[in-house]
Amino acid sequence: MEVHFPEKKVILVTGGNGQLGKELRSFAREQDRFEFIFSSRDTLDISDQAEVYNAIKKFSPAYVVNCAAYTNVDKAESESELAFLINSTAVNHVVGALKIYGGKLIHFSTDYVYDTISDRPINEDDSCEPKSVYGKSKRAGELVLEASDIDWINIRVSWLYSSFNHNFVKTMLRLGAEREELSIVSDQVGTPTYTRDLTQVIYEMIKKDDPSLMKSHYNFSNNGVTNWASFAKEIFKQTNIKCKVGHTTTEAYDAPAPRPLWSVMSKDKITKNYEIKLRDWQESLSACLSLVHT
Ligand SMILES: NC(=O)c1ccc[n+]([C@@H]2O[C@H](COP(=O)([O-])OP(=O)(O)OC[C@H]3O[C@@H](n4cnc5c(N)ncnc54)[C@H](OP(=O)(O)O)[C@@H]3O)[C@@H](O)[C@H]2O)c1
Repeated sequence: MEVHFPEKKVILVTGGNGQLGKELRSFAREQDRFEFIFSSRDTLDISDQAEVYNAIKKFSPAYVVNCAAYTNVDKAESESELAFLINSTAVNHVVGALKIYGGKLIHFSTDYVYDTISDRPINEDDSCEPKSVYGKSKRAGELVLEASDIDWINIRVSWLYSSFNHNFVKTMLRLGAEREELSIVSDQVGTPTYTRDLTQVIYEMIKKDDPSLMKSHYNFSNNGVTNWASFAKEIFKQTNIKCKVGHTTTEAYDAPAPRPLWSVMSKDKITKNYEIKLRDWQESLSACLSLVHT
């Protein structure tokens, strides 16, 4: 872990080698207001209670930004115990340590926690009824927050991608260059989220540091509505890749874990409380592609 300067507020980031964690590393280098300390699974395993307590005691962070998570949606169906350990039990360790040593928590969840809604954007107050093991484990982590008395913010994001690691955009760039045609699911409707835009939100939340806006769930994604096939088409359009996109259905694709067909979330709460301007998903995609597509 990197050395920190005690005069600045310390932000301890877990899961620093994930796609959001790496985006935050990049973001942190461009600011000097806060002292970011990045940990990854090998330096801070959040499922190890003693490690979590020691790290939070040692660094006294003003905020923990918990980017660590079990995120393999399909594998979670057969690794339920591990998914719950990282997405729920480990969250309880972080909350427990923050309660003793002080500090606030920014945590992340997913649109997969919601029940099915299909004719309007989903609000934070809408009912939660996750269908997949991954969704259930993320909801269990949220319940840990709801039961705690520390200050926390939980950001529910959908269709996260970045210029780092593996994600849908990177997979499409690879497959699009190799194949003439791809068959992509078109009956799941939602909105992509660029990690760079999410890091800006995290930064605004930490800067504002307003407890009256905490102990609360916030939806976040870019602006607009699309489906995976149209998302792929836009990636190919913006990068001049000639691959054709055919449509398939969620049922025909038959992935191990069930996916919501409707992932369009209202962002009214986050934009109002944190005065955030959302970028359209195509604009953010273009910003990401300028970093990954050569
Ligand atoms: N990706 C999406 O489409 C999506 C959608 C909605 C919500 N989210 C949520 O957004 C957040 C960030 O997602 P992401 O895409 O950045 O995830 P990611 O790329 O999978 O990164 C998660 C990181 O957590 C690390 N990790 C796993 N178990 C750990 C442990 N016990 N201790 C410490 N680190 C551990 C992983 O390390 P290893 O690489 O060693 O496993 C990985 O580096 C997560 O809460 C996720 O649930 C993601």
